[in-house]
Amino acid sequence: MFSLVIKPIGEEDTPSYDLLLSADPSELAIQVYLPYSTIYQAYIEERLIGQYVFFPVDNHEAEIKNIAVDEAYQGQGIGKLLLQDAIQRAISSGYKILSIGTSNASIGQLYLYQKQGFELSGIKMNFFIDNYSEPLYENGIQCKHMIMLTKELY
Ligand SMILES: CC(C)(COP(=O)(O)OP(=O)(O)OC[C@H]1O[C@@H](n2cnc3c(N)ncnc32)[C@H](O)[C@@H]1OP(=O)(O)O)[C@@H](O)C(=O)NCCC(=O)NCCS
Repeated sequence: MFSLVIKPIGEEDTPSYDLLLSADPSELAIQVYLPYSTIYQAYIEERLIGQYVFFPVDNHEAEIKNIAVDEAYQGQGIGKLLLQDAIQRAISSGYKILSIGTSNASIGQLYLYQKQGFELSGIKMNFFIDNYSEPLYENGIQCKHMIMLTKELY
């Protein structure tokens, strides 16, 4: 068993670009939404092992971006705990909808998000083709479209 602490990044802390880029390889995209977001970081015994970015879309809806767990700690339920943490924080801040996007090729992520109660809500067609300079692949499938999922919080 591990004791996981999830807390907002301190003003003096630097974000982990390794983690951020493992979830979204576009540094440019990250630079656009980071100033409007809060990064929540997960620690085990003071070692940073995961994070997610909480982006307020409007007063009603927030979006989870860049959820990532250090490779050495994946598959132990930490991604699930990060999602549950984001859901709780969104509820206590009064949001009614929490959304998350992933690619058509991200089979494991689609499984994880739906298991946590997120439902398919839209497709941004050709998102990864139009917004990324290099073709991206996951599970041997090209990432072409962004699949949006949302969870109603009431
Ligand atoms: C996606 C990610 C955050 C999941 O974190 P994690 O700690 O490995 O996930 P968990 O251990 O909590 O997994 C929860 C469930 O999802 C499943 N799952 C998670 N990632 C999976 C994958 N890539 N393939 C298959 N199943 C996966 C687990 O088997 C588990 O299933 P269970 O509840 O039935 O046992 C992590 O794999 C990661 O950081 N990936 C790289 C960055 C990334 O792709 N971020 C998402 C961008 S949209």
